[in-house]
Amino acid sequence: MSELCLTLLVVVLCYNGSSSESLDEQLGILFNRSDLHCPKEFESQDYLNKMRFENSLECCTCKAQPLWTVEGNLNGKLNFTNVGHLNVFFVIHDIELKTIDHDAYFNYLIYTYGNLTAFPISVCNFNITVYIDLSFNHITDIRNISCLSILDTLLLAGNKIQSLIADKFHGMKHLRRVDVSFNQITKLEPKFFLHMAGSMFNFDISYNNMTEIDVTNIVWTRQKYFCIVNFSHNALNEITNPSNFSFQQELKFGCGGYLDFTYNNFSHFFNFEKIGFNDLRLFGKLVFYSFDFRHNNWLCDCKFYPFVSQATIGAIILHASHVNLKCNSPSQFKNKLIRGFLNQPDLLICNISMSARCPQKCRCFCQPSQNKTIINCRSNLASKKFPLVLPEYENLVLDFSKNLFSDLDNQFKSAKNYTFRIKKINLAENNFDSISDFFVSQLKSTTIINIKRNPITSIDRSLRNCQED
Ligand SMILES: *[C@@H]1O[C@H](CO)[C@@H](O)[C@H](O)[C@H]1NC(C)=O
Ligand SMILES: *[C@@H]1O[C@H](CO)[C@@H](O)[C@H](O)[C@H]1NC(C)=O
Ligand SMILES: *[C@@H]1O[C@H](CO)[C@@H](O)[C@H](O)[C@H]1NC(C)=O
Ligand SMILES: *[C@@H]1O[C@H](CO)[C@@H](O)[C@H](O)[C@H]1NC(C)=O
Ligand SMILES: *[C@@H]1O[C@H](CO)[C@@H](O)[C@H](O)[C@H]1NC(C)=O
Ligand SMILES: *[C@@H]1O[C@H](CO)[C@@H](O)[C@H](O)[C@H]1NC(C)=O
Ligand SMILES: *[C@@H]1O[C@H](CO)[C@@H](O)[C@H](O)[C@H]1NC(C)=O
Ligand SMILES: *[C@@H]1O[C@H](CO)[C@@H](O)[C@H](O)[C@H]1NC(C)=O
Ligand SMILES: *[C@@H]1O[C@H](CO)[C@@H](O)[C@H](O)[C@H]1NC(C)=O
Ligand SMILES: *[C@@H]1O[C@H](CO)[C@@H](O)[C@H](O)[C@H]1NC(C)=O
Ligand SMILES: *[C@@H]1O[C@H](CO)[C@@H](O)[C@H](O)[C@H]1NC(C)=O
Ligand SMILES: *[C@@H]1O[C@H](CO)[C@@H](O)[C@H](O)[C@H]1NC(C)=O
Repeated sequence: MSELCLTLLVVVLCYNGSSSESLDEQLGILFNRSDLHCPKEFESQDYLNKMRFENSLECCTCKAQPLWTVEGNLNGKLNFTNVGHLNVFFVIHDIELKTIDHDAYFNYLIYTYGNLTAFPISVCNFNITVYIDLSFNHITDIRNISCLSILDTLLLAGNKIQSLIADKFHGMKHLRRVDVSFNQITKLEPKFFLHMAGSMFNFDISYNNMTEIDVTNIVWTRQKYFCIVNFSHNALNEITNPSNFSFQQELKFGCGGYLDFTYNNFSHFFNFEKIGFNDLRLFGKLVFYSFDFRHNNWLCDCKFYPFVSQATIGAIILHASHVNLKCNSPSQFKNKLIRGFLNQPDLLICNISMSARCPQKCRCFCQPSQNKTIINCRSNLASKKFPLVLPEYENLVLDFSKNLFSDLDNQFKSAKNYTFRIKKINLAENNFDSISDFFVSQLKSTTIINIKRNPITSIDRSLRNCQED
C-alpha cells in the first residue's frame, strides 16, 4: 500500500464523528461523558492548522474543559458556583475531610506543600470529588481511589511515588488529567496505557527516575485519542519488550496523541523487531501518534539505517512535526540532523571492537547500506599472519594489502573460519609469487580479488580466464 493510501485510510479511520453532531456531542459519544465542553473555534480549519491539530476532535481532546471549570479559561480553574470545597482537618499523619457546601454538585480538595505521607483515607466518603491537588506532599503511594468515579483531575506533582499500577485507575472513566511529575517513579507497569478506556487525556510523568519503558506503554488500543503523555526529563534509555508484544495488522491503535520523550537518555536507536514491529510497514498504524525524541543522546550509527532506509518510516517519523532529531555522537556528526542521512546512508556504520574479533590494529565496521562488513588491515596486521577469526558477519570486505604475505596457501589454511564469508579481498602490495588452485578454491564466494603489485610468476589455470580487475 502506498504511503498516501495509508494516510488516507487512517484519516478516514480517525474521523468518526458525523457532521450533524456538535463537537461536544461527538466528544460525549467518543468518551462517554457529557460534561466536557469544546470551544467553538476548534471547528475552524484555520485554527486547527495554526495549532497543528489534525482534526477538531484531537483539538478537543487537548483543550476541552469540564463544565465546572471557569468558562473560557483553559487552565482548569474551578468555578466555585458549581464546586464545593472540602475542608481539611488534621488527624495525626492524615487529614480528615469535611464538606462545607452541602448542596454542591461537585467537590474539590486542594492541600499542597504539606506533610501528607498517604492519600487521605476518607476521600471515598466524598465520591462527587472532581478535582484533587495534593502536590508537594510526601505521598508514597496512590491508594485505590476508584471509588472516586467522577474524579477528573488528580495532581500529585512533587511527592514520593515510586511506581504506578494501572489497576489504581480502573473504572475511573472521568479521569482526564493526572500529574505525577517530580516524583521518584522508576517503573511504570507494562500495559499501563494500552487498555486505558476512559478519557485520560493528559498524563504528566516528567521529572521522574525512569530508565526504561515497556513498548506497551507507548501505544493505546482502547482510548481513541489522548492529548499528551509527558515522559520528558527522565533517564529513559531503552524501550523494552519482555512480553514479546507484537504489532499485528488487526490491532487498532486509534488516533494517538503526543508522547514527549525529550530530555531523556536514549542513545542507541531502537531495534524495531525487538519492540514488536516484525514488519516495519506496521509502523504506519501509528501515523497519527507524535513521538518527540529530541534532546536525547542519539548515537548515529548503523542502528539508524533501517530508520532512514525505509521510505515509510522515514516519512512518518522524520517528516512529522518533530523533524529536528539530531545526533549527539559520534563527534563528527554532533548536531547533524538525522534526516540528513536519508541521502547519505553509507555514513551510518557501527565500529566492531576487538572483543567482537576485529584483529588488533585493524579497523572493522559494518555498513548496512552496502550489506557488508569492512575489515581494514592495510599494512597493519601485527603478526604478519592472517587472523584466525574475524567478526561473525557475512559479506566481509577485507583489505590485507601492504602486509608482505608471501605464502598465501598457508595463510588461507589458517583462515578456514571465514574464507567462505569473504566477498571482496584486497591482497595488493604483498610479496607472493604464485596463485594456486587451493587459493582459488578457498575464495569461491568471493566476487573481487585484488592481487595487484605482487611479484607473481605463476597463476593457476582456473584463474587465467578471469577478468582482471
Ligand atoms: C457510559 O456510561 C454510563 C454511565 O455513565 C454507563 O452506564 C454505560 O454503560 C457507558 N457506556 C459505555 C459504552 O461504556
Ligand atoms: C460558573 O458556573 C455558573 C453556573 O454554571 C455560570 O452561570 C457562571 O457563568 C460560571 N462562572 C464563570 C466565571 O464561568
Ligand atoms: C511539615 O513538617 C515540618 C517538619 O516537621 C514542619 O516544619 C512543617 O511546618 C510542616 N508543614 C506543614 C504544612 O505542616
Ligand atoms: C456516591 O455514593 C452514593 C452513595 O453510596 C451514591 O448514591 C452515588 O451514586 C455516588 N455518586 C457517584 C458520583 O459515584
Ligand atoms: C479498587 O477498589 C475497587 C472497588 O472500590 C475494586 O473493584 C478494585 O478491584 C480495587 N482495585 C485494587 C487494585 O485493589
Ligand atoms: C531520582 O533522580 C533524582 C535526580 O536525578 C535523584 O536526585 C534521586 O536520587 C533519584 N531517586 C531515586 C529513588 O533514584
Ligand atoms: C513536558 O514537561 C516538560 C517539563 O515539565 C515541559 O517543559 C514540556 O513542555 C512538557 N511537554 C509538553 C508537550 O507539554
Ligand atoms: C520472548 O521471546 C524470547 C525469544 O524468542 C523468549 O526467550 C522469551 O521466552 C519470550 N518471552 C515471552 C514472555 O514469551
Ligand atoms: C545516560 O547514559 C549514559 C551512558 O549512555 C550513562 O553514563 C549515564 O549515567 C546515563 N544518565 C542517567 C541519568 O542515567
Ligand atoms: C568509528 O570509529 C572511527 C575511528 O575511530 C570514529 O571516527 C567514528 O566516530 C566511529 N563511529 C561510530 C559510529 O562509533
Ligand atoms: C545481505 O547479504 C546476505 C548474505 O549474502 C544475504 O543473505 C542478505 O539477504 C543480504 N541482505 C540484504 C538486505 O540485501
Ligand atoms: C569461528 O571461530 C569461532 C571462535 O573459535 C567459533 O565460535 C565459530 O563457531 C567459528 N565459525 C566457524 C564457521 O567455524
